Amino acid sequence: MNLITKIAGREFESYTLNASVPRASTLDELKQIGQSDSAAIMMKSCTIKKRKGNPLPRIFKLPLGYFNSEGLPNLGYKTYLEFIPKLKKYNKPIIVSVAGFSVDEYKILVKAFQESEVDLIEINLSCPNIDNKTEPIAYNLKKTEEVLKEISYLGKKPIGLKLPPYPYYSIQQKIANLIKKYSVSFLSCVNTLGNSLIIDEIKERSVIKATRGFGGLSGQYIKPIALGNVRRFYELLKGKVSIMGMGGVKTGQDVFEFLLAGADAVQIGTAFVEEGVSCFQRINKELKSILRKKGYSSISKARGKLKIS
Ligand SMILES: Cc1cc2nc3c(=O)[nH]c(=O)nc-3n(C[C@H](O)[C@H](O)[C@H](O)COP(=O)(O)O)c2cc1C
Repeated sequence: MNLITKIAGREFESYTLNASVPRASTLDELKQIGQSDSAAIMMKSCTIKKRKGNPLPRIFKLPLGYFNSEGLPNLGYKTYLEFIPKLKKYNKPIIVSVAGFSVDEYKILVKAFQESEVDLIEINLSCPNIDNKTEPIAYNLKKTEEVLKEISYLGKKPIGLKLPPYPYYSIQQKIANLIKKYSVSFLSCVNTLGNSLIIDEIKERSVIKATRGFGGLSGQYIKPIALGNVRRFYELLKGKVSIMGMGGVKTGQDVFEFLLAGADAVQIGTAFVEEGVSCFQRINKELKSILRKKGYSSISKARGKLKIS
């Protein structure tokens, strides 16, 4: 059985790929992803200038995930542009993730990658860890539309939005309308759950120093809200926009749940950081075994087939 799927019209050899996380930043790391069973090579979000990120400690491991406030450390977009030709030999889609601090910066970033050999452009509108005072852009409809207006027509490569977890329907509906209006080709749901706080009660301290102790939660803690977001957008967009689901995927069973909810592919962040590139082969094997047992002959036969009790 194969796990072939399509995102924004591009064929993906399998259903799982890495999310934009720390192990996807350097050329060596991206090459390792290229050699692995990841369906694509997804890069760590890049900004105009190289960034060191927030002060340490900024990542804290929890039993079921991570709590982080990295603050977008990356090598700067020009370095990622140089990486792209060196990753072509792996013959799988290359996805860049861009993060701007203004509409103009998003414009520069998208234009540069539209002119490159990258396959897909993920627009990160949902980083929760830059400061504690402004919301990630995708929580602000006006700002989201300002960005979309400027970046949607800069080239032919498909663009997608990396969205935060939305806890209520009306904003999902409004975001879906913007996605249709500006011909966004794919969504990546969800980023970490921002504004979280983990406290070491013995030391009476926050576990990270960055952003005054607040940070984003990932891993199994956020799987229910991630599934909810995937399902909502699947219903709202009726298969016209590809959806990549993520949040707490660790096993083939987790992936199968995202498939039932309507995801076209699944990204793996926390489990990939923990386990390394071998996670894709393991998880794909587990997924195939579940599909076989349940009598599904392909990904498309099970996609969106959630029954409501
Ligand atoms: C340490 C860390 C760094 C991350 N950095 C980025 C990033 O640069 N860009 C981005 O879009 N998402 C980033 N994310 C979010 C992940 O891509 C993913 O959306 C989220 O962690 C949920 O998936 P998971 O539960 O499989 O980790 C980061 C997550 C973690 C844990």
